[in-house]
Amino acid sequence: MFNLSGKTVLITGSAGGLGKEFAQRILQQGAKVCLTDIKTELGQATEKEFVKAFGADRVHFEVCNVTNADDVLKVWQNACQKFEVDHLDVLVNNAGVMGEKEGWKLCLDINLRGVLNGCTLAMEKMSRANGGRGGVIVNVASILGLFNAQQPKGWAYNTSKSAVVTYSRCVGTAETEAQDGIRILTLCPSVTQTPILDGCTQAELAEMKKNVGGFLQADQVGKAFMTLLQTGQTGSVMSVWKDCPPYYIPDTGMGLFILYTTCAMVMRFVPKSVFDPTNGLKFFPHMTFILVAMLVVWILVAKFSMWLLF
Ligand SMILES: NC(=O)c1ccc[n+]([C@@H]2O[C@H](COP(=O)([O-])OP(=O)(O)OC[C@H]3O[C@@H](n4cnc5c(N)ncnc54)[C@H](O)[C@@H]3O)[C@@H](O)[C@H]2O)c1
Repeated sequence: MFNLSGKTVLITGSAGGLGKEFAQRILQQGAKVCLTDIKTELGQATEKEFVKAFGADRVHFEVCNVTNADDVLKVWQNACQKFEVDHLDVLVNNAGVMGEKEGWKLCLDINLRGVLNGCTLAMEKMSRANGGRGGVIVNVASILGLFNAQQPKGWAYNTSKSAVVTYSRCVGTAETEAQDGIRILTLCPSVTQTPILDGCTQAELAEMKKNVGGFLQADQVGKAFMTLLQTGQTGSVMSVWKDCPPYYIPDTGMGLFILYTTCAMVMRFVPKSVFDPTNGLKFFPHMTFILVAMLVVWILVAKFSMWLLF
């Protein structure tokens, strides 16, 4: 289990909401936390609250806009200076917006570019191959990074979070961990009661609540976050759903691709008079037919080999 005592942590978008919840839990484990956000007043108020609880030498707030890579570098350097260390151990890329109000360009800039700015810098600074000490990166995505909602208005958020999950799975490999000493983890919470929902109308909130079976509270996401941070393997993606223990979602994309492609390859041997897939092979009926045929062949082979053996 990853021991946080004495570690240095930087959390983006942590003036309030989930970022503040994560910061508090990390501080309770004895780490030093640099809070960062574009909300200066709220950030300073949170800093004050945490300084009172955990001491001035363990908490620091800096204004940082994650869309600006220079800003992220500056805050990284200032955090090292404040905590009198030459490295940070954990980066939590948490800053994010819903996107409807902000528009798609800013949504992608904050939710995707912001995460990539943080990851690129952390990979460079933490990498053992570059003389760093290794570390952990936690990217906060969403359940909407795991599937596509049929919500034309929310596409930018969905796209940004899917891209964060994809990035984390691509880079969070055993080789990266062995070479750079960096674990890359992704948290995908369902809808949670935080200030991000402030801009939604009552009707939108009711609809969302119905779709996800009720909202999570920040403390449930905080508990899941700590489990992921302390025990998650690199590349792992954890989902958080109301009233369930947190659970990991494996990457099934390639498995499904291979399955469908195998079906398509088998279709080459099916006479055109049976199916005429002039517009491409559809799941129904073409793929279903092949899947059933493959299952029947598999059962017959199993039966036949049993018959031969006994
Ligand atoms: N609340 C939810 O329903 C929910 C569900 C799944 C995932 N998430 C994700 O969790 C993360 C935290 O969200 P939250 O629910 O705590 O909302 P929140 O609005 O309370 O927190 C997000 C924080 O990010 C900050 N921020 C926005 N733009 C920024 C920028 N350019 N640079 C730096 N900071 C910036 C905001 O000021 C805010 O403090 C987000 O990435 C969000 O997408 C939230």
